Amino acid sequence: MTLSFKPMTTTRFVVEVEDIDLSKPVDGASVAALRKAINEHSILVFRGQTIDNDQHIAFSRNFGDLEIHTVKQYLLPDYPEIIALANRGENGTTPIDNGGAYWHTDISYKAKPPMGSLLYSLEVPPEGGDTLFADMYAAYDALDDDMKDRIEGVRAVHGYAARFSQMGEGGKRPTLSAEQLAEVPEVTHPVVRINRETGRRALYVNEGFTQGIEGMPMVESRTLVDTLNAHATQPDFVYDHRWRVGDLVFWDNRAVMHCATAYDTSYPRRMHRTTIQGDMPIA
Ligand SMILES: [Fe+2]
Repeated sequence: MTLSFKPMTTTRFVVEVEDIDLSKPVDGASVAALRKAINEHSILVFRGQTIDNDQHIAFSRNFGDLEIHTVKQYLLPDYPEIIALANRGENGTTPIDNGGAYWHTDISYKAKPPMGSLLYSLEVPPEGGDTLFADMYAAYDALDDDMKDRIEGVRAVHGYAARFSQMGEGGKRPTLSAEQLAEVPEVTHPVVRINRETGRRALYVNEGFTQGIEGMPMVESRTLVDTLNAHATQPDFVYDHRWRVGDLVFWDNRAVMHCATAYDTSYPRRMHRTTIQGDMPIA
């Protein structure tokens, strides 16, 4: 199998991977090429795929062990590795209209946040329900030297509980149990994160889960986080993915943040996500 990578942005941020059928086992050389590609590009788009749950999980495992999400209400009953983002629910999962309608990096509130996420679309509305992605390497590179100096060696506090309680989803969101809360204590991560394999530097804060800067007064800390988020989400750094049924998008959580857009919820929308475990962010 020889893969080809077609650019989807004017930068190297997003590529479409062609000539691959994810319902079949992927050979070792192709896995190596995809691992290299995710470091190089941050987002890999596979279109026109037809895969079942086992195939989604098998493909994802090529890139590491899979994460089981804290909010068990969204996990497919027979496939806890898959979180169902389905506005009608699926096999008894709790319906969710749009879980990520704010800029975030998946599960950055854990000490070892996931390396990547693989989201597969099964049903999409005619418009909206896009996923926006921000290139956090480009965002870091474009900071001025004063800001780069200011955030060097600085750590941010990340947490889930505050964000989860704000989301509400019109009363659809379950509350977190004491046991679930215990799984997600606050953690700190470097604001400038280095990819261990390539040495590239990415900005690593997000609107959703970054609560502030360690050791900085609250107002100053909030202003800095807001400034960095506003910087990173400028159109120059953002790719808008308009979903088609059969798209699978694999993104690098070390290098991007993302945000879901609104849509008319009278249409069904159903997506499946697997999440690849990651390592401790380093500065
Ligand atoms: Fe997300």
